[in-house]
Amino acid sequence: MYRHYCWQLQQVANPPDRAKDDSSVGAKNGQLSRAGSLTVLRRTNSKSKLASSSSSRTSSIAESDSYASVDLGTDKLPPIDTPEASHVCSIRLRNILRRIQNGEVPKEDLYKNLEYAASVLESVYVDETRRLTDEDDELSEVEPDAVPTEVRDWLALTFTRSMNNVRRRGQEKPKFRSVAHAIRAGIMVDRIYRRLSSSSTLHIPPAVLQLLKGMDDWSFDVFALNSAADGHSLKYVGYELLQKYDLVTKYKINSSMLDSFLLQLEAGYSKYKNPYHNLVHGADVTQTVHNILSQSKLAHWLTDLEVFATIVAALIHDFEHTGTTNNFHIQTGSEFALLYNDKAVLENHHICASFRIMRSEESNILNHLSREEYREFRALVIEMVLATDMSFHFQQLKNMKNLLGMPENIDKQKALSLVLHCADISHPAKDWSLHHRWTNQLLEEFFKQGDREQELGLPISPLCDREKTLVAESQIGFIDFIVDPSFTVMTEMLEKILTPLQKAARSEEAISEEVFDKSDKSKYVLSTPWADCLAINKNKWKEQAAKDAEERKRKEAEEKSKVPNSNTNNNTTKAPVPADKATPVVNCSTGKGGN
Ligand code: CMP
Ligand code: MG
Ligand code: ZN
Repeated sequence: MYRHYCWQLQQVANPPDRAKDDSSVGAKNGQLSRAGSLTVLRRTNSKSKLASSSSSRTSSIAESDSYASVDLGTDKLPPIDTPEASHVCSIRLRNILRRIQNGEVPKEDLYKNLEYAASVLESVYVDETRRLTDEDDELSEVEPDAVPTEVRDWLALTFTRSMNNVRRRGQEKPKFRSVAHAIRAGIMVDRIYRRLSSSSTLHIPPAVLQLLKGMDDWSFDVFALNSAADGHSLKYVGYELLQKYDLVTKYKINSSMLDSFLLQLEAGYSKYKNPYHNLVHGADVTQTVHNILSQSKLAHWLTDLEVFATIVAALIHDFEHTGTTNNFHIQTGSEFALLYNDKAVLENHHICASFRIMRSEESNILNHLSREEYREFRALVIEMVLATDMSFHFQQLKNMKNLLGMPENIDKQKALSLVLHCADISHPAKDWSLHHRWTNQLLEEFFKQGDREQELGLPISPLCDREKTLVAESQIGFIDFIVDPSFTVMTEMLEKILTPLQKAARSEEAISEEVFDKSDKSKYVLSTPWADCLAINKNKWKEQAAKDAEERKRKEAEEKSKVPNSNTNNNTTKAPVPADKATPVVNCSTGKGGN
């Protein structure tokens, strides 16, 4: 089916019959057309219309001279949406121009004819616009056996906007012309898309742009970014990384959908107004994952889809966190605990709620993934985010250590899960100023939970008692038993994965040389900025622990001096807790912290 409005210069040998037969035109003007003149023709919206008006399409300018008659009325001119209207219109306008020079055109006639001309042009415009946006029609011109059905369906699916094209036409196959058109259209869409995505609609304030330049740094100041970004650090980090890895282009992510997705993520992270598990933590973990992928060159080992999944997993990994632990959900029998049968309660929710968003029409950043890609992406994201459940920590490290001792390659899902897990617990391995701030925020969140547990008459969870928790000691324990071992295993894992890659790269130059040891080219050298930070921070906490112990001693003495007989202490105020009785941050036998 054509909706072409096609201008065609055509030699016509004989005057068409229609000029004589059509009373609406020929009878009025009563003039015969000249043979051999040029015709401008317009195709109609349907083949039948085309067939029935074929004689009019071949009408000549000579024939249309009838419209240049003395009578300048418009009543008998052809309807504005017919093929001949534009042709007739042009003749009439030329005629009027000639007459204007001689001062022969009454104002009323001029008005009516200009009105007619405007309507014809409007109709032409509508027709033409429809044609340009109607790919269906091109694919309907298919000829059987030109290309396999699968190819045709693929073309329809990829280069047209509607699934309807795939099934609607049954057994038809595209003609070569249609295929070529579809390919051209696809290339054009791709070009337009690239232009759009590189000159994206997202306006990034200059101060944010400046800070985003530091995204590759280990101790990137995400708090500074969040201030400059007016509380939208997650949006900018997500946006920047998806652009940086060229994923927006690769997966044809629509910029307004991306915008909506990131804003909805931010809203979810802000739902419970958590001091720690908020959008800044989401941004921090995502930036840290990027740092590890890029600085170690692990990204070279991954496919685009795996990088995409890893970044999205990091972005969503604590989405709609309630500011309470899994254990709190289980103990209070929350809706989430009920829904997920007490297993990885929060992590299941983070995944489920974010996939709901990614499935929604306005935030569907995955809509150009094939079915297969979508399945792989989803499986990866699920595995990675479930592995952020801290109750899985020791098992995860043990599994990875076993894999490191074996000759087989490391499973990508497991490797990426460990990278995300390390990023999630990385703040003790960053600059002190960052780590200190995160710790205060996390403890504030834990203490709020402790307050609620107290109100509910539940035992206060480890690290959640604002009166008893020994902050410095807890952080030393967290570094020694959780963070340090995790980063050690991750370092070994990266070395095991990337050393053979480096060998391959030496011939292919796929990975830049600078990551490898200059003296021994076969040795992969990983930069480990976390190691120094961990050592420095641990020392700071040790100093703090000593100071805190002093302060406790001093207070104890002060309390004693206030009460002459310590036996008469009626315990109305809480006594400071000796270090050995204080709640430890981690139960080292189970590894369960305050997740
Ligand atoms: P989440 O971010 O969901 O996953 C990692 C968990 O590690 C985090 O929640 C906290 O429960 C825990 N965590 C992170 N940092 C610390 C810390 N400094 N001290 C104790 N626990 C921590
Ligand atoms: Mg979490
Ligand atoms: Zn987290």
